[in-house]
Amino acid sequence: MSNILLGATGGIACYKAVYLLRLLKRAGHAVRVVMTKDAARFVGPLTFETLSESPVYIESLRGAPIDHIALSTWADLFLIAPASANTIAKIAHGLADNLLTAALLATKADVMLYPAMNEAMFLNSATQTNIETLISRGYFVAKPASGELACLENGAGRLAEPEEILEQVDIRLAIGRFKPLFAGKRFLITAGATIEAIDAVRYISNYSSGKMGLALALAAENLGGDVELIYGARPLKSGLKNTIYAKSAEDMRQAVLERVEKADVFIMNAAVADYTPRHPNREKIKKTADSINLELVKTVDILKEAAKLKRRGQFFIGFAAESENSEENALKKLKDKGVDLIALNDVSNHEIGFNSDYNEITAFFADGERVVFAKQPKRILAYRFLLHAAERINSR
Ligand code: CTP
Repeated sequence: MSNILLGATGGIACYKAVYLLRLLKRAGHAVRVVMTKDAARFVGPLTFETLSESPVYIESLRGAPIDHIALSTWADLFLIAPASANTIAKIAHGLADNLLTAALLATKADVMLYPAMNEAMFLNSATQTNIETLISRGYFVAKPASGELACLENGAGRLAEPEEILEQVDIRLAIGRFKPLFAGKRFLITAGATIEAIDAVRYISNYSSGKMGLALALAAENLGGDVELIYGARPLKSGLKNTIYAKSAEDMRQAVLERVEKADVFIMNAAVADYTPRHPNREKIKKTADSINLELVKTVDILKEAAKLKRRGQFFIGFAAESENSEENALKKLKDKGVDLIALNDVSNHEIGFNSDYNEITAFFADGERVVFAKQPKRILAYRFLLHAAERINSR
Protein backbone atom coordinates (compact mmCIF):
# COMPACT_ATOMS: atom_id res chain seq x y z
CA MET A 1 0.00 0.00 0.00
CA SER A 2 1.12 3.54 -0.61
CA ASN A 3 1.70 6.83 1.16
CA ILE A 4 -0.77 9.32 -0.21
CA LEU A 5 -0.61 13.01 0.49
CA LEU A 6 -4.11 14.37 0.00
CA GLY A 7 -4.21 18.09 -0.74
CA ALA A 8 -7.53 19.87 -0.37
CA THR A 9 -8.03 23.38 -1.70
CA GLY A 10 -10.89 25.82 -1.18
CA GLY A 11 -14.28 24.93 -2.61
CA ILE A 12 -17.58 23.39 -1.67
CA ALA A 13 -16.38 20.08 -3.14
CA CYS A 14 -14.12 19.72 -0.08
CA TYR A 15 -16.82 17.64 1.56
CA LYS A 16 -16.18 14.95 -1.05
CA ALA A 17 -12.51 14.88 -0.05
CA VAL A 18 -13.65 13.59 3.37
CA TYR A 19 -15.32 10.62 1.75
CA LEU A 20 -12.34 10.12 -0.53
CA LEU A 21 -10.07 10.02 2.51
CA ARG A 22 -12.23 7.27 4.03
CA LEU A 23 -12.05 5.24 0.84
CA LEU A 24 -8.28 5.63 0.58
CA LYS A 25 -7.84 4.52 4.19
CA ARG A 26 -10.21 1.61 3.73
CA ALA A 27 -8.17 0.52 0.71
CA GLY A 28 -5.18 0.31 3.05
CA HIS A 29 -3.26 3.45 2.07
CA ALA A 30 -1.53 5.68 4.59
CA VAL A 31 -2.93 9.17 4.10
CA ARG A 32 -1.81 12.56 5.32
CA VAL A 33 -3.79 15.67 4.60
CA VAL A 34 -2.56 19.11 3.73
CA MET A 35 -5.15 21.88 3.32
CA THR A 36 -5.14 25.45 2.21
CA LYS A 37 -6.61 27.97 4.65
CA ASP A 38 -9.59 28.37 2.34
CA ALA A 39 -10.24 24.63 2.37
CA ALA A 40 -10.24 24.69 6.17
CA ARG A 41 -13.13 27.18 6.02
CA PHE A 42 -15.25 24.63 4.16
CA VAL A 43 -14.47 21.49 6.19
CA GLY A 44 -13.03 21.42 9.69
CA PRO A 45 -9.49 20.02 9.86
CA LEU A 46 -10.56 17.85 12.79
CA THR A 47 -12.68 15.75 10.44
CA PHE A 48 -9.66 15.02 8.27
CA GLU A 49 -7.45 14.55 11.30
CA THR A 50 -9.74 11.94 12.83
CA LEU A 51 -10.18 9.99 9.63
CA SER A 52 -6.53 10.12 8.58
CA GLU A 53 -5.33 9.34 12.12
CA SER A 54 -2.61 11.87 11.65
CA PRO A 55 -2.25 15.65 12.06
CA VAL A 56 -3.61 17.86 9.31
CA TYR A 57 -1.32 20.49 7.88
CA ILE A 58 -2.80 23.87 7.05
CA GLU A 59 -0.36 26.47 8.21
CA SER A 60 1.46 28.80 5.93
CA LEU A 61 5.07 27.86 5.29
CA ARG A 62 6.70 29.58 8.20
CA GLY A 63 4.35 28.46 10.97
CA ALA A 64 4.16 24.90 9.66
CA PRO A 65 4.34 22.09 12.21
CA ILE A 66 6.14 19.94 9.65
CA ASP A 67 8.74 20.72 7.08
CA HIS A 68 7.25 20.81 3.58
CA ILE A 69 10.23 18.77 2.38
CA ALA A 70 9.54 15.99 4.89
CA LEU A 71 5.91 15.96 3.81
CA SER A 72 6.72 15.81 0.14
CA THR A 73 9.35 13.09 0.43
CA TRP A 74 7.02 10.94 2.55
CA ALA A 75 4.49 10.80 -0.28
CA ASP A 76 4.40 8.18 -3.05
CA LEU A 77 1.50 10.05 -4.56
CA PHE A 78 0.37 13.64 -4.17
CA LEU A 79 -3.35 13.80 -4.82
CA ILE A 80 -5.06 17.18 -4.97
CA ALA A 81 -8.83 16.95 -4.71
CA PRO A 82 -10.50 19.34 -5.06
CA ALA A 83 -8.02 21.43 -7.02
CA SER A 84 -9.22 25.03 -7.36
CA ALA A 85 -8.45 27.24 -10.36
CA ASN A 86 -6.27 29.35 -8.08
CA THR A 87 -4.12 26.44 -6.87
CA ILE A 88 -3.83 25.04 -10.39
CA ALA A 89 -2.57 28.45 -11.55
CA LYS A 90 -0.06 28.65 -8.70
CA ILE A 91 1.30 25.18 -9.36
CA ALA A 92 1.56 25.82 -13.09
CA HIS A 93 3.72 28.85 -12.34
CA GLY A 94 5.83 27.27 -9.62
CA LEU A 95 4.49 29.42 -6.78
CA ALA A 96 4.97 28.12 -3.26
CA ASP A 97 3.13 30.51 -0.97
CA ASN A 98 1.49 27.98 1.33
CA LEU A 99 2.33 24.56 2.67
CA LEU A 100 0.40 22.72 -0.02
CA THR A 101 2.01 24.49 -2.97
CA ALA A 102 5.46 24.40 -1.33
CA ALA A 103 5.19 20.66 -0.71
CA LEU A 104 4.08 20.19 -4.29
CA LEU A 105 7.00 22.16 -5.66
CA ALA A 106 9.36 20.05 -3.58
CA THR A 107 7.89 16.65 -4.34
CA LYS A 108 9.32 13.99 -6.59
CA ALA A 109 6.16 11.93 -6.15
CA ASP A 110 3.62 11.38 -8.88
CA VAL A 111 0.90 14.06 -8.90
CA MET A 112 -2.80 13.71 -9.64
CA LEU A 113 -5.18 16.68 -9.70
CA TYR A 114 -8.96 16.71 -9.65
CA PRO A 115 -10.23 20.15 -10.66
CA ALA A 116 -13.48 21.49 -9.22
CA MET A 117 -14.74 24.95 -10.06
CA ASN A 118 -17.35 26.95 -11.91
CA GLU A 119 -17.58 25.99 -15.58
CA ALA A 120 -16.56 29.41 -16.92
CA MET A 121 -13.48 29.37 -14.69
CA PHE A 122 -12.61 25.90 -15.91
CA LEU A 123 -13.08 26.79 -19.57
CA ASN A 124 -11.19 30.07 -19.29
CA SER A 125 -8.14 29.84 -21.49
CA ALA A 126 -5.93 30.81 -18.55
CA THR A 127 -7.04 27.68 -16.66
CA GLN A 128 -6.89 25.52 -19.78
CA THR A 129 -3.33 26.68 -20.51
CA ASN A 130 -2.34 25.98 -16.91
CA ILE A 131 -3.81 22.50 -17.12
CA GLU A 132 -1.92 21.83 -20.35
CA THR A 133 1.29 22.90 -18.61
CA LEU A 134 0.63 20.47 -15.76
CA ILE A 135 -0.14 17.62 -18.16
CA SER A 136 3.05 18.31 -20.10
CA ARG A 137 4.90 17.99 -16.80
CA GLY A 138 3.58 14.43 -16.49
CA TYR A 139 0.86 15.18 -13.92
CA PHE A 140 -2.47 13.49 -14.24
CA VAL A 141 -5.23 16.10 -14.48
CA ALA A 142 -8.73 14.61 -14.44
CA LYS A 143 -11.49 15.96 -16.61
CA PRO A 144 -14.07 17.39 -14.23
CA ALA A 145 -17.50 15.79 -14.30
CA SER A 146 -20.59 17.57 -15.60
CA GLY A 147 -23.67 18.24 -13.54
CA GLU A 148 -25.06 20.70 -11.05
CA LEU A 149 -22.36 22.97 -9.63
CA ALA A 150 -22.25 24.81 -6.31
CA CYS A 151 -23.32 27.99 -8.10
CA LEU A 152 -26.50 26.07 -9.11
CA GLU A 153 -25.51 26.28 -12.73
CA ASN A 154 -25.14 23.12 -14.75
CA GLY A 155 -21.87 22.47 -16.48
CA ALA A 156 -18.42 20.93 -16.43
CA GLY A 157 -16.57 21.61 -13.20
CA ARG A 158 -17.83 19.11 -10.66
CA LEU A 159 -15.31 17.13 -8.68
CA ALA A 160 -15.21 13.52 -9.86
CA GLU A 161 -16.91 11.03 -7.54
CA PRO A 162 -14.65 9.65 -4.77
CA GLU A 163 -15.12 6.03 -5.94
CA GLU A 164 -13.92 7.01 -9.39
CA ILE A 165 -10.92 8.87 -7.94
CA LEU A 166 -9.98 5.83 -5.84
CA GLU A 167 -10.11 3.63 -8.91
CA GLN A 168 -7.91 6.00 -10.90
CA VAL A 169 -5.46 6.22 -7.99
CA ASP A 170 -5.19 2.43 -7.94
CA ILE A 171 -4.60 2.39 -11.69
CA ARG A 172 -1.99 5.12 -11.48
CA LEU A 173 -0.17 3.38 -8.64
CA ALA A 174 -0.14 0.16 -10.67
CA ILE A 175 0.88 1.66 -14.00
CA GLY A 176 3.09 4.55 -12.94
CA ARG A 177 3.28 7.90 -14.68
CA PHE A 178 2.20 8.09 -18.26
CA LYS A 179 1.95 10.78 -20.85
CA PRO A 180 -1.10 11.53 -23.00
CA LEU A 181 0.41 9.34 -25.71
CA PHE A 182 -2.70 9.31 -27.83
CA ALA A 183 -3.27 13.07 -28.07
CA GLY A 184 -5.04 13.76 -31.37
CA LYS A 185 -5.85 10.09 -32.03
CA ARG A 186 -9.46 9.10 -32.62
CA PHE A 187 -10.57 5.78 -31.18
CA LEU A 188 -13.66 3.83 -32.14
CA ILE A 189 -14.32 1.06 -29.62
CA THR A 190 -17.16 -1.45 -29.42
CA ALA A 191 -18.15 -3.17 -26.19
CA GLY A 192 -20.70 -5.54 -24.71
CA ALA A 193 -23.11 -8.06 -26.14
CA THR A 194 -25.58 -7.59 -28.95
CA ILE A 195 -29.11 -8.93 -28.58
CA GLU A 196 -31.01 -10.59 -31.40
CA ALA A 197 -34.78 -10.44 -31.19
CA ILE A 198 -36.79 -13.69 -31.28
CA ASP A 199 -40.10 -11.91 -30.77
CA ALA A 200 -41.42 -8.77 -29.09
CA VAL A 201 -40.12 -9.79 -25.65
CA ARG A 202 -37.43 -12.45 -26.13
CA TYR A 203 -33.93 -12.45 -27.49
CA ILE A 204 -30.67 -14.36 -27.97
CA SER A 205 -27.54 -12.92 -26.43
CA ASN A 206 -24.39 -13.85 -24.50
CA TYR A 207 -22.76 -13.16 -21.13
CA SER A 208 -20.52 -10.28 -22.19
CA SER A 209 -20.82 -7.35 -19.75
CA GLY A 210 -18.88 -4.79 -21.76
CA LYS A 211 -16.46 -4.19 -18.88
CA MET A 212 -13.33 -4.84 -20.97
CA GLY A 213 -14.43 -2.55 -23.82
CA LEU A 214 -15.39 0.18 -21.38
CA ALA A 215 -12.04 -0.16 -19.59
CA LEU A 216 -10.29 0.23 -22.95
CA ALA A 217 -12.38 3.29 -23.77
CA LEU A 218 -11.61 4.96 -20.44
CA ALA A 219 -7.92 4.12 -20.69
CA ALA A 220 -7.72 5.45 -24.26
CA GLU A 221 -9.39 8.66 -23.11
CA ASN A 222 -7.12 9.10 -20.10
CA LEU A 223 -4.16 8.53 -22.40
CA GLY A 224 -5.29 11.55 -24.40
CA GLY A 225 -7.37 9.93 -27.16
CA ASP A 226 -10.75 11.09 -28.47
CA VAL A 227 -13.00 8.13 -27.92
CA GLU A 228 -16.31 7.03 -29.38
CA LEU A 229 -17.78 3.99 -27.70
CA ILE A 230 -20.39 1.82 -29.36
CA TYR A 231 -22.10 -0.14 -26.68
CA GLY A 232 -24.17 -3.26 -27.10
CA ALA A 233 -27.46 -3.96 -25.42
CA ARG A 234 -27.32 -3.91 -21.60
CA PRO A 235 -25.68 -0.56 -21.03
CA LEU A 236 -23.23 0.17 -18.24
CA LYS A 237 -22.92 3.79 -17.17
CA SER A 238 -19.95 4.71 -19.30
CA GLY A 239 -19.13 8.21 -18.08
CA LEU A 240 -17.90 8.90 -21.60
CA LYS A 241 -19.30 11.77 -23.61
CA ASN A 242 -19.55 9.90 -26.89
CA THR A 243 -21.43 6.70 -26.26
CA ILE A 244 -23.71 5.23 -28.89
CA TYR A 245 -25.94 2.23 -28.23
CA ALA A 246 -26.36 -0.49 -30.80
CA LYS A 247 -28.75 -3.26 -29.88
CA SER A 248 -28.40 -5.93 -32.55
CA ALA A 249 -25.50 -7.14 -34.66
CA GLU A 250 -26.97 -5.27 -37.60
CA ASP A 251 -27.35 -2.03 -35.55
CA MET A 252 -23.74 -2.39 -34.48
CA ARG A 253 -22.62 -3.03 -38.02
CA GLN A 254 -24.31 0.17 -39.21
CA ALA A 255 -22.88 2.17 -36.31
CA VAL A 256 -19.36 0.91 -37.02
CA LEU A 257 -19.49 1.40 -40.78
CA GLU A 258 -20.72 4.97 -40.37
CA ARG A 259 -17.78 5.87 -38.14
CA VAL A 260 -14.80 3.64 -38.80
CA GLU A 261 -13.37 5.67 -41.63
CA LYS A 262 -12.68 8.61 -39.34
CA ALA A 263 -11.04 6.51 -36.63
CA ASP A 264 -7.29 6.15 -36.26
CA VAL A 265 -7.71 3.16 -33.98
CA PHE A 266 -10.59 0.71 -34.17
CA ILE A 267 -11.05 -1.79 -31.36
CA MET A 268 -13.71 -4.42 -31.95
CA ASN A 269 -14.25 -5.79 -28.48
CA ALA A 270 -18.01 -6.39 -28.60
CA ALA A 271 -19.31 -9.94 -28.36
CA VAL A 272 -21.44 -9.82 -31.48
CA ALA A 273 -24.02 -12.56 -31.95
CA ASP A 274 -22.87 -14.88 -34.71
CA TYR A 275 -26.44 -15.93 -35.53
CA THR A 276 -29.73 -14.09 -35.51
CA PRO A 277 -33.32 -15.34 -35.94
CA ARG A 278 -34.26 -15.29 -39.62
CA HIS A 279 -37.85 -14.18 -38.97
CA PRO A 280 -38.22 -12.42 -35.61
CA ASN A 281 -41.88 -12.29 -34.60
CA ARG A 282 -43.38 -8.84 -34.22
CA GLU A 283 -45.74 -10.08 -31.52
CA LYS A 284 -45.03 -12.26 -28.49
CA ILE A 285 -45.05 -15.93 -29.53
CA LYS A 286 -47.84 -17.81 -27.68
CA LYS A 287 -46.98 -21.19 -26.12
CA THR A 288 -49.49 -23.17 -28.12
CA ALA A 289 -47.05 -25.56 -29.82
CA ASP A 290 -45.15 -28.25 -27.85
CA SER A 291 -41.93 -27.29 -29.56
CA ILE A 292 -40.83 -24.62 -31.94
CA ASN A 293 -37.94 -24.36 -34.34
CA LEU A 294 -35.95 -21.24 -34.49
CA GLU A 295 -34.16 -20.69 -37.74
CA LEU A 296 -30.96 -18.73 -37.30
CA VAL A 297 -28.89 -17.06 -39.97
CA LYS A 298 -25.29 -15.93 -39.76
CA THR A 299 -24.67 -12.27 -38.99
CA VAL A 300 -22.13 -10.26 -40.94
CA ASP A 301 -18.61 -10.31 -39.49
CA ILE A 302 -18.31 -6.60 -38.68
CA LEU A 303 -14.58 -6.60 -38.01
CA LYS A 304 -13.80 -8.40 -41.24
CA GLU A 305 -16.02 -6.06 -43.24
CA ALA A 306 -14.53 -2.97 -41.61
CA ALA A 307 -10.98 -4.27 -42.14
CA LYS A 308 -11.62 -4.45 -45.89
CA LEU A 309 -12.13 -0.67 -45.82
CA LYS A 310 -9.03 -0.11 -43.72
CA ARG A 311 -6.91 2.75 -45.00
CA ARG A 312 -3.24 3.51 -44.44
CA GLY A 313 -2.50 4.85 -41.02
CA GLN A 314 -5.31 3.02 -39.25
CA PHE A 315 -4.68 0.43 -36.55
CA PHE A 316 -7.28 -2.31 -36.03
CA ILE A 317 -7.58 -4.52 -32.98
CA GLY A 318 -9.81 -7.57 -32.68
CA PHE A 319 -10.53 -9.95 -29.84
CA ALA A 320 -10.69 -13.71 -29.96
CA ALA A 321 -12.97 -15.48 -27.49
CA GLU A 322 -11.73 -19.07 -27.38
CA SER A 323 -12.34 -22.14 -25.26
CA GLU A 324 -10.09 -24.67 -27.08
CA ASN A 325 -7.10 -24.60 -29.45
CA SER A 326 -6.88 -21.00 -28.37
CA GLU A 327 -3.56 -19.98 -29.83
CA GLU A 328 -4.13 -21.61 -33.17
CA ASN A 329 -7.58 -20.06 -33.49
CA ALA A 330 -6.38 -16.64 -32.42
CA LEU A 331 -3.61 -16.67 -35.02
CA LYS A 332 -6.10 -17.74 -37.65
CA LYS A 333 -8.39 -14.82 -36.71
CA LEU A 334 -5.47 -12.39 -36.85
CA LYS A 335 -4.97 -13.35 -40.48
CA ASP A 336 -8.56 -13.92 -41.57
CA LYS A 337 -9.87 -10.69 -40.14
CA GLY A 338 -7.02 -8.60 -41.52
CA VAL A 339 -6.20 -6.81 -38.27
CA ASP A 340 -2.97 -5.55 -36.69
CA LEU A 341 -3.52 -7.19 -33.34
CA ILE A 342 -5.68 -9.94 -31.90
CA ALA A 343 -6.21 -10.19 -28.15
CA LEU A 344 -6.92 -13.72 -27.04
CA ASN A 345 -9.37 -14.27 -24.17
CA ASP A 346 -9.87 -17.71 -22.70
CA VAL A 347 -13.63 -17.77 -22.18
CA SER A 348 -13.66 -21.25 -20.65
CA ASN A 349 -12.14 -19.87 -17.42
CA HIS A 350 -14.92 -18.21 -15.42
CA GLU A 351 -12.53 -16.28 -13.21
CA ILE A 352 -11.59 -14.11 -16.15
CA GLY A 353 -13.20 -12.88 -19.34
CA PHE A 354 -16.96 -12.66 -19.77
CA ASN A 355 -18.67 -10.67 -17.02
CA SER A 356 -15.68 -10.81 -14.67
CA ASP A 357 -13.79 -7.76 -13.39
CA TYR A 358 -10.57 -9.58 -14.25
CA ASN A 359 -9.01 -10.68 -17.47
CA GLU A 360 -5.93 -12.35 -18.84
CA ILE A 361 -4.95 -11.68 -22.42
CA THR A 362 -2.39 -12.88 -24.90
CA ALA A 363 -1.79 -10.29 -27.58
CA PHE A 364 -0.71 -11.45 -31.04
CA PHE A 365 0.63 -8.67 -33.23
CA ALA A 366 0.62 -8.99 -37.01
CA ASP A 367 4.40 -8.42 -36.98
CA GLY A 368 4.86 -11.61 -34.95
CA GLU A 369 5.27 -10.26 -31.42
CA ARG A 370 3.36 -12.07 -28.73
CA VAL A 371 2.76 -10.68 -25.25
CA VAL A 372 1.01 -12.20 -22.26
CA PHE A 373 -0.86 -9.90 -19.87
CA ALA A 374 -1.32 -11.94 -16.69
CA LYS A 375 -4.58 -11.99 -14.73
CA GLN A 376 -5.38 -8.53 -13.37
CA PRO A 377 -8.31 -6.10 -13.11
CA LYS A 378 -9.65 -5.16 -16.54
CA ARG A 379 -9.39 -1.45 -15.66
CA ILE A 380 -5.63 -1.84 -15.20
CA LEU A 381 -5.07 -4.36 -17.97
CA ALA A 382 -6.64 -1.94 -20.46
CA TYR A 383 -3.87 0.62 -19.81
CA ARG A 384 -1.07 -1.92 -19.99
CA PHE A 385 -2.48 -3.32 -23.22
CA LEU A 386 -2.83 0.09 -24.90
CA LEU A 387 0.51 1.35 -23.60
CA HIS A 388 2.15 -1.70 -25.12
CA ALA A 389 0.48 -1.09 -28.47
CA ALA A 390 1.10 2.67 -28.35
CA GLU A 391 4.37 2.71 -30.26
CA ARG A 392 2.89 0.80 -33.17
CA ILE A 393 -0.32 2.83 -33.13
CA ASN A 394 1.57 6.09 -33.17
CA SER A 395 4.02 5.06 -35.88
CA ARG A 396 1.17 4.70 -38.38
N1 CTP B 1 -16.84 -10.12 -34.63
C1 CTP B 1 -17.47 -9.23 -35.47
N2 CTP B 1 -18.67 -9.55 -36.03
C2 CTP B 1 -19.25 -10.71 -35.77
C3 CTP B 1 -18.63 -11.64 -34.92
C4 CTP B 1 -17.40 -11.31 -34.35
O1 CTP B 1 -16.93 -8.17 -35.72
N3 CTP B 1 -20.42 -10.99 -36.34
C5 CTP B 1 -15.53 -9.75 -34.06
C6 CTP B 1 -15.46 -9.75 -32.54
O2 CTP B 1 -15.84 -8.50 -32.01
C7 CTP B 1 -14.01 -10.04 -32.28
C8 CTP B 1 -13.61 -10.93 -33.42
O3 CTP B 1 -14.59 -10.71 -34.45
O4 CTP B 1 -13.19 -8.89 -32.34
C9 CTP B 1 -13.59 -12.40 -33.07
O5 CTP B 1 -14.80 -12.76 -32.48
P1 CTP B 1 -15.01 -14.23 -31.90
O6 CTP B 1 -16.35 -14.32 -31.29
O7 CTP B 1 -13.81 -14.60 -31.09
O8 CTP B 1 -14.91 -15.13 -33.19
P2 CTP B 1 -15.81 -15.31 -34.45
O9 CTP B 1 -15.22 -14.54 -35.57
O10 CTP B 1 -17.23 -14.98 -34.13
O11 CTP B 1 -15.64 -16.86 -34.77
P3 CTP B 1 -15.98 -18.12 -33.81
O12 CTP B 1 -17.22 -17.72 -33.03
O13 CTP B 1 -16.21 -19.22 -34.76
O14 CTP B 1 -14.79 -18.34 -32.91
